[in-house]
Amino acid sequence: MTIGRHPATRFRRTRKSDAMRRLVSENTLSTGDLIWPVFVMDGTDQSVPVTSMPGVERLTVDRVVRAAEEAAGLGIPAICLFPYTDPSLKTELCEEAWNPDNLSNLATRAIKTAVPEIAVMADVALDPYNANGHDGIVRNGEIVNDETVEALVRMALAQAEAGADILGPSDMMDGRIGAMRAGLEEAGHVNVAILSYAAKYASAFYGPFRDAVGASGALKGDKKTYQMDPANGDEALRLVERDLTEGADMVMVKPGMPYLDICRRVKDAFGAPTFAYQVSGEYAMLKGAAERGWLDGPRVMEESLLAFKRAGCDGILTYFAPEMARTLRARGA
Ligand code: PBG
Repeated sequence: MTIGRHPATRFRRTRKSDAMRRLVSENTLSTGDLIWPVFVMDGTDQSVPVTSMPGVERLTVDRVVRAAEEAAGLGIPAICLFPYTDPSLKTELCEEAWNPDNLSNLATRAIKTAVPEIAVMADVALDPYNANGHDGIVRNGEIVNDETVEALVRMALAQAEAGADILGPSDMMDGRIGAMRAGLEEAGHVNVAILSYAAKYASAFYGPFRDAVGASGALKGDKKTYQMDPANGDEALRLVERDLTEGADMVMVKPGMPYLDICRRVKDAFGAPTFAYQVSGEYAMLKGAAERGWLDGPRVMEESLLAFKRAGCDGILTYFAPEMARTLRARGA
């Protein structure tokens, strides 16, 4: 394609008014694109602010149900649960992960009873239940893969039993998608979807999240033997292909904004439902700067989320979900 020369071509013609800009706009963000991650804690009728994530709170199950009602009312299609587990329940073998009545499963059941129309996504990884903060079982200093996968399958089955619509394996063990899919089929949970954290990087942007779920103190070492090296791109494509082959319905790139190139490559290569997780550190950066008056909060929120659509994502996990949904609603979008 050749582009006509000035003045035959003036790109500013299609930017001259709001009407013209709306006509030629290539991407749209809508409430239907949002998944809202929420933090669940024990107790009744309480919430505790997460210091490093202004505006985000840990909620007791009854309050999570109210949050889910609010989200459904706003048109947000899915809510994703992360439990803040009491340290006394964290063990080396992470048994609490497959307790049918653990915090995450209680919250899932409560939400599905009160607000059945919202999709509940449950995170599959051992870190909230692990005495050493890792996503897998540790033996002699090694995060062991296959034993972890067995534990993850038990965890996933308990979550499906509790009524989760979507399972989000965020552990980055090899072979977990295939094992979970086989387990789900065998147990009759044939319609439970898997949104695989397929390309999850060993990122420093998860810092505030680890505070929110109380995993920072517990974590010994780093997650570099299972999460991806930020230097790699081709490997992300191989991981996505592997997970889709093993039975993932949707795939995720995480974190989001520093990895938009990966989102685009994944979407172009596979055309599968592709999600990005705008993680806690990304949220904290934008909120923190906005609180100081250094950035226009509402505008950077929207610009950052629209960027994911432009990069080819079908949806975004974001702590901004309710705020963004309210903005879109106020605009009549
Ligand atoms: C752990 C998990 C993490 C996040 C989601 N699931 C943190 C980690 O891998 O250490 C991060 C989410 C965020 O930072 O918002 N399985």
